[in-house]
Amino acid sequence: MDACSPVLVVGALLLVLLGASAPTASAARAFFVFGDSLVDNGNNNYLMTTARADAPPYGIDFPTHMPTGRFSNGLNIPDIISEYLGAEPALPYLSPYMRGENLLVGANFASAGVGILNDTGVQFVNIIRIAQQLQNFQDYQRRLAAYIGEDAARERVSQSLVLITLGGNDFVNNYYLVPFSARSQQFEIHDYVPFIISEYKKVLRLYELGARRVIVTGTGMIGCVPAELALHSLDGSCAPDLTRAADLFNPQLERMLTELNGEVGHDDVFIAANTNRVSFDFMFNPQQYGCMHAQGSRRPRSRAAGRARTTGSGCARRRPTCAPTGTCTPTGTPSTPRSGPTGSSSPTSCTAPPTTSAP
Ligand SMILES: *[C@@H]1O[C@H](CO)[C@@H](O)[C@H](O)[C@H]1NC(C)=O
Repeated sequence: MDACSPVLVVGALLLVLLGASAPTASAARAFFVFGDSLVDNGNNNYLMTTARADAPPYGIDFPTHMPTGRFSNGLNIPDIISEYLGAEPALPYLSPYMRGENLLVGANFASAGVGILNDTGVQFVNIIRIAQQLQNFQDYQRRLAAYIGEDAARERVSQSLVLITLGGNDFVNNYYLVPFSARSQQFEIHDYVPFIISEYKKVLRLYELGARRVIVTGTGMIGCVPAELALHSLDGSCAPDLTRAADLFNPQLERMLTELNGEVGHDDVFIAANTNRVSFDFMFNPQQYGCMHAQGSRRPRSRAAGRARTTGSGCARRRPTCAPTGTCTPTGTPSTPRSGPTGSSSPTSCTAPPTTSAP
């Protein structure tokens, strides 16, 4: 048994929203994933980019204990959703195995470092921006149609589940990346948020592309992720600017999704998942999720609770490190390899909640 983490809790929330059960593999619906590092499961490994998760300690809690390209020490949210769908994780779209039977499972189009805006993540050079991810979805659908026929392909896509996670990088890897960034010169934060929300609305043409159930996550506690703590915090408290940005972004995102649902004429196509509130709730009501404490050593009740851990950009050699409990310290060193996904070890010093963010 081991630790709980907010990532799992987010996964659990999404599943409650979906009313997911555990269907048999053959009945599993297809799953498509778009967005940034929180959901990338290996696409960037195929790209010449600095936004990559192909070295330890990434993957130390993954079943293979190897880095996979996931920006996580273990499984990430798409993995957990796939598990609940009763399916294998959808392959990264760029995987050479993305063909034949594997097409039926779905595809993960996400690419670490991207944002809503095209100028987000320019420092990572060669990443798959969101417009291109949607184009790849269209290419995928052509390949699927060639494999199972046009009608069956359309049906498979309309029955599918879609997850999109974007926006954190438009703050951490754009607006707040450097003092006096171009976007912060152009906009006050109160104007920047409506601007990226309106751009996001244009990006979300997934209904047009055949999707009928799309979970859209808000930003998590982006002021509290290890990289931000390392850069902006002396005492372990969360970065206030980023915390405020998330507070502005999430309610506006929810309103925009309501508008979009109105435009497509169904109120249940786009579903907002408030990851910020979930992680906050986890921090302050850990018992509710079967955890003794939200920080430090914990003994969760469920096996699944120990499976998903921190995701984010904080884990890299000689960089902020995620402790086994899913809490993070900006100054820690990578903990020793753990015995397995359900192994345990004592946490390093814990100063902040591990939630989401970039790249
Ligand atoms: C971003 O790039 C895509 C593809 O090049 C383009 O279609 C889109 O209009 C761009 N978005 C903005 C806001 O400039």
